[in-house]
Parts: sequence; C-alpha cells; structure tokens
Amino acid sequence: MADQTERKRLAGKVAIVTGAGRGIGRCEALQLAAEGAKVVVNDVFIENRGEPNEVAIAASVADEIRAAGGEAAANLDSVASMTGAERIVNHALREFGRVDILINNAGNHRPGFTYEMNEYDWDRVIQTHLKGTFALIRFASPLFCRQGAGVVVNTGSESGLGHPTMANYSAAKEGILGLTRSVAREMGRFGVRCNAIRPRAVTHSVEIFTKTTSAPTQALERALGRFWLGDRGHIPSNGGPEHVAPLVVWLCTDAAKNVNGRTFYVCGDEVGLFSEPEVICSLSRAGGWTLDSLDSYARERLIGDLTNDFLLEGILNCGNSSQPKLSST
Ligand SMILES: NC(=O)c1ccc[n+]([C@@H]2O[C@H](COP(=O)([O-])OP(=O)(O)OC[C@H]3O[C@@H](n4cnc5c(N)ncnc54)[C@H](O)[C@@H]3O)[C@@H](O)[C@H]2O)c1
Repeated sequence: MADQTERKRLAGKVAIVTGAGRGIGRCEALQLAAEGAKVVVNDVFIENRGEPNEVAIAASVADEIRAAGGEAAANLDSVASMTGAERIVNHALREFGRVDILINNAGNHRPGFTYEMNEYDWDRVIQTHLKGTFALIRFASPLFCRQGAGVVVNTGSESGLGHPTMANYSAAKEGILGLTRSVAREMGRFGVRCNAIRPRAVTHSVEIFTKTTSAPTQALERALGRFWLGDRGHIPSNGGPEHVAPLVVWLCTDAAKNVNGRTFYVCGDEVGLFSEPEVICSLSRAGGWTLDSLDSYARERLIGDLTNDFLLEGILNCGNSSQPKLSST
C-alpha cells in the first residue's frame, strides 16, 4: 500500500483556480497539482502586455506544473463576467472532461474613502470578487450536483470585518461569506461542500496596497478590533502565500468531508476556524418596541456600556485624507 506521504490525495480530480498566475492562487494551483489534480490555471494578467516578451502569467504557472510532472491548462478569461466564468468552466471540461474542485481566488483592489469612491471603482471590485465568485459557482455547480460531489473554496478577507478605505473590497469579501453559507446549505444535499478562507500572506498585491494606501495600519487594527487577530501582530516574515495553500488543498480532500459552510483563517504557521455571526444579547417586548421603551430598557439592557471604538481620530485624518467634499451628483 502506498505510504500516506506518497499517496496523491487528489488523483483523478480536476480543479479550477482563478487568479492563479501569482500569489496565493499560484501556490494553490501548484499544490493541487502536486496532490494529483489536473488544474485549470486561470488569470487575466499579461506581463509586458504589447511588448515582444509579453507573457500570460497563467501560462507560466501551467508550465511550472507540467515541468513538475503535473497536468495543467492555462486560461485567460476574466471571472468578472458571466461569459468569462462560463468559458473557464467549459475550458476545464474541454481539456479534462470534468470539474471536481473550484477555488475562487481572483482578486483586485481599488482603495479609497467611501465618500470619495466612484461607481467604477465600486463596480470593478464587486464584479471581480463577489460576482466572479458567484459566476464560477453558477457554472460549476450544476456539474457538481449532477455528479453528487464537488468542492468550492472561496476567498474572503479579514477586511470584510470593516476595513477603512476599502468599502468596496470589504463589502465584496463579506458578501462572499454569505454566498458561501447559502451555497453550502443549498447544495450540501447533493454532496457539494462550500467553505471559505480569510487568508493573510505577503504577496504582490499586499505590497502594492501597503505602498499606496492612505490608511495607516493602526487604523486598520483599531477598526477591525479583536477579530482581526491584531494581537498577533502583522503578517509574520514567514507568511508567504505558500503557507495558505495547504489548508485550502486539505479542505478539498476527503479529510474535510464534514466541513461545509465554514470560514477559516490561515497565515504563516497558524490556521484557525472563525465563529459564525450570532445574536449575543436580545430583549423581547409584547407588542414590539417603541422609541420610549427602547429609551427605558434597551439603552441599559441591550447596548449596555458599548462605546464607539471607530472614531479613529488622529489616524484617518492624517496622510492624504481630507474632509469629505459634497458631491454634486
Ligand atoms: N494576500 C493577502 O494577505 C490577502 C488577504 C486577504 C484576502 N486575500 C485574497 O486572496 C486572493 C489572492 O490574493 P493575492 O494576495 O495572492 O493577490 P494577487 O494580486 O497576487 O493575485 C490575484 C490574482 O488575481 C488575478 N485577477 C484579478 N482580476 C481577475 C479577473 N477578473 N479574472 C481572473 N483573474 C483576475 C490577478 O491578475 C492576480 O494575478 C484575493 O482574492 C485577495 O483578495 C489576500
């Protein structure tokens, strides 16, 4: 019998990884392939576009997989449209005849204060993350339901907990977690599992974001509070994207067959399971609540000694942020 360490846990499976030309997605694609999966490496980005030495980063990762003895196909379609998503799934069917695993990882950033954000920046981020995640699930899930098996791992973010200057990204990422729970509950009965991660890793996009954002890190820590795991400090020096991939690949294996609708944390040496939102205090009053009864009871018994922890004064007002301007539109 094959030794546990030699056994390929995903032999015969076909996986799609979106945004897999670099960063976390690339590591996920490489590790899925190392576990025996045939991988569709999706990414829209073309390095040196228009130059004689231009190269599609998805093709480079597919080459890397093949060089290591695996099977892979590169796909350059955008996840941000229904037609792009359908083409990605069809590409997998054409190349490998089936789909078993879908890793929704593609992502972008367009930071800015909510009061200055334009529709384009809002739409671009929502389309890539939230619509893209939906669109891939939309076209892969009928296959999963028909074959009675399939795994989806979506990519959320701690930024979903409320990241200043990232309302578009936070909204998209937290939307992805709601989508994850809905898909888990809809399709569990068909043998389909859908989970999510909130990862942290030092990647190209994080480096660019850190250089360009006007919100200092302390603002982020205070805004996200204890849920950001701020007590653990920043991304550790060993927090590369290769540390995210093992948990994601493991979630695709039978070892996680009872795991559905959950959200995980992963960074460096640490993996974790997030709590699910719940009502932590409630009051009930026959006939419902009035403003007066809320004044009398709820102020004391519901909100207690809650304070506004999000003033972030002296933090968000520094840098290049200014007072909100009135918009004429
Ligand atoms: N790195 C972190 O600390 C961190 C933290 C939280 C969440 N995330 C999430 O993890 C995922 C990967 O992040 P990363 O840091 O590796 O980023 P990255 O920028 O290195 O990789 C993202 C990839 O997605 C591709 N992409 C963008 N739009 C696309 C589209 N429409 N269609 C197909 N591909 C597209 C990009 O070309 C890029 O190669 C993202 O969803 C990101 O939001 C990352």
